[in-house]
Amino acid sequence: MQISEPGQPRYGDGDTSYQATGGIAGIRRLVDAFYDQMESLPEAAEIRALHPRNLDESRDKLSCFLSGWLGGPKLYREKYGPISIPAAHAHLGIGSQERDAWLLCMEKALDQQSWPEGFKHYLLRALSVPAERCRTRD
Ligand code: HEM
Repeated sequence: MQISEPGQPRYGDGDTSYQATGGIAGIRRLVDAFYDQMESLPEAAEIRALHPRNLDESRDKLSCFLSGWLGGPKLYREKYGPISIPAAHAHLGIGSQERDAWLLCMEKALDQQSWPEGFKHYLLRALSVPAERCRTRD
């Protein structure tokens, strides 16, 4: 996804987004905050229950995926193999409520990052695309 407003960084270009996160350490901080939100927000209780009790691997997998998705090293493919996000979620029966809960956790996790506001808005909007593609009902 690209944003091309004059004077704005084009976060969809090359590894611009990956660099804006501060690289894999910044992505892991975001993902940790994301899963911490999932563990505490009442709105996220149902999607939390879809995950394994121990979230260590879920944290690693999402961080590795986002690294490549943001234009950085393709860590998910290197470590876990190829992935299609809709196919990986097809068995979960995700509806609009689950999609919105996932995006709410991400919005709150992004709020905690000291990244440019424009980048945070871009990222939430960009992530709403694969989140919608995970939806199989409603
Ligand atoms: C739309 C709402 C979403 C829900 C409710 C959801 C939920 C889940 C659940 C329950 C798992 C399985 C965890 C496990 O068994 O270890 C999972 C795995 C995963 N999710 Fe999501 N997810 C959503 C959206 C997304 C999006 C938008 C992305 C990427 C941008 C994503 C990336 C991943 C990855 C990389 C995995 C690991 C897949 C694997 O290796 O099997 N998810 N998700």
